[in-house]
Amino acid sequence: MRNNGSKMQQLPTHLAGLVARCDLRRGEPANRDRAVGVPGGMTTNGTYEAYVVREVGDGQFAGRLETKDITDLPAGDVLVRVRYSSLNYKDALSASGNRGVTRRYPHTPGIDAAGVIEMSDAEEFAPGDAVIVSGYDLGTKVPGGFGQYIRVPAGWVMKLTPGLTLRESMILGTAGFTAGLMIHELLEAGTEPEQGEILVTGATGGVGCFAVGILAKLGCSVVAVSGKDDAEALLKPLGAKEVVGREAFAAGKGRALLEGRWAGVVDTVGGEALATAIKSTRPGGVVTCCGNAASPELSLTVYPFILRGVTLKGIACQHYSLSTRRLILKRLANEWRLDGLDDLHKEISLADLGGAIDQILAGRLHRRAVINLDR
Ligand SMILES: NC(=O)c1ccc[n+]([C@@H]2O[C@H](COP(=O)([O-])OP(=O)(O)OC[C@H]3O[C@@H](n4cnc5c(N)ncnc54)[C@H](OP(=O)(O)O)[C@@H]3O)[C@@H](O)[C@H]2O)c1
Repeated sequence: MRNNGSKMQQLPTHLAGLVARCDLRRGEPANRDRAVGVPGGMTTNGTYEAYVVREVGDGQFAGRLETKDITDLPAGDVLVRVRYSSLNYKDALSASGNRGVTRRYPHTPGIDAAGVIEMSDAEEFAPGDAVIVSGYDLGTKVPGGFGQYIRVPAGWVMKLTPGLTLRESMILGTAGFTAGLMIHELLEAGTEPEQGEILVTGATGGVGCFAVGILAKLGCSVVAVSGKDDAEALLKPLGAKEVVGREAFAAGKGRALLEGRWAGVVDTVGGEALATAIKSTRPGGVVTCCGNAASPELSLTVYPFILRGVTLKGIACQHYSLSTRRLILKRLANEWRLDGLDDLHKEISLADLGGAIDQILAGRLHRRAVINLDR
C-alpha cells in the first residue's frame, strides 16, 4: 500500500471531493454506470455516512449510522465513492463482533463495494472509472462497503465487468462470485450434466441460490437442500428439479456410506449436511465446500474417499488470481447470467442494515440484500 506524499494526501480533504467531481466531468465515460457528479457523497467538509460497529461492553457489539471524516480512512492508492454494497454472511459475523473475521473495533463492515473512483494515484485507474472491490481485507480489517467512501490499494480494485451495472455487480457480490468459482471447479474436475444430479445445500442463501440458478442454466439436474418452508417458491423458478428439507436430508446420520447419488456437490453450510453429501456422492464425484453456516465440524470416515474416490475441494475465494476472478465475473455477466437476476435481491439503505444482519445470522434472510448507499 502506498500513500505518503500522494496527490490525495496533499489535498485538503474538502477540496479532494471537489477536484474529483471536476475530473468526473472531464474524462470519457468508463461505461454506462459512470457517475456524473456524486449524489449524496462526501460533503464539502469531507464527511460521509457509514454503518459503524462498536463494542458496547460485555462482549456486546452494536452498529449504527455515523458521520465519518474522509481522513479517518486508511492510506491507499484509490478513493472510491461507494454506490452499492451487499450483505454477506461474513459481513454479519464482522458486524456482530466475530474476532475471527474482524479483530479491531470500531469498524465499518462490507466485503463488497461497487462505485466510482474519485481519486487515484494508480496509473491504471482514473477518476470516473466504475469499479468493484471485493474480498482481500475490505470490510474485515479495512473499512468496507457499508460506508459511502473506501480507500484501498490499487491491487484490490477491478474495473466493472462489461455487461454488468454497479447494482447488478452487487446483487452477485461475493456470493455470486463464490458460486461461480465452485461451478468452475466442478467443471475443471470434469463434472458434466450427463453424469448425474448435482446437490446444492443452503440453497436459498446467497451462494446457494446462484449455484442453483447457474447449474440449472448449464443443463444440470439440481437437487436443492433448504431449511426454509417456502424454499420451493424461490428455488423451482431458478431451475431446481427437487427441493429437499434440511432434516429429511440428514436422515442418514450415523452411517458411513449412503446410496451414491450426486455427481457433484456445492456445499455452503458444512457440518452434518456436508458429511451426508460426501457419503452420498457417486464414485468419482466432486464435492466443493465453501462455508460453515451450519457448523465448521465435519464428522466422517475415510470410506467415501478410499472406496468411491470422492474428491473434496475446498473453496477460499481470496486465493484466486485476478485473471480467474475476471474470467468468473465475465461468465456471470454473459453465459452464466441469470434471467431473473433482479428478482434475487431487495434494495435496502444503510439504516436498514441492522435488521438485515439479524435476519442473515438467523438464516431467515429472503433474497440478497443490496445496500444502496445513496438512499
Ligand atoms: N470460502 C469462501 O471463499 C466463501 C465465500 C463466500 C461465502 N462463504 C461462506 O459460505 C457460507 C454461505 O454464504 P452466503 O453468503 O450464501 O450466506 P447466507 O446467504 O447466509 O446463506 C447461508 C444459507 O445456509 C443455510 N443455513 C443457515 N443456517 C443454517 C444451519 N444452522 N444449518 C443448515 N443450514 C443453514 C440457509 O439456507 P436454507 O435456509 O436454504 O437452508 C442460509 O440461507 C457462509 O458460511 C459464508 O461465510 C465462504
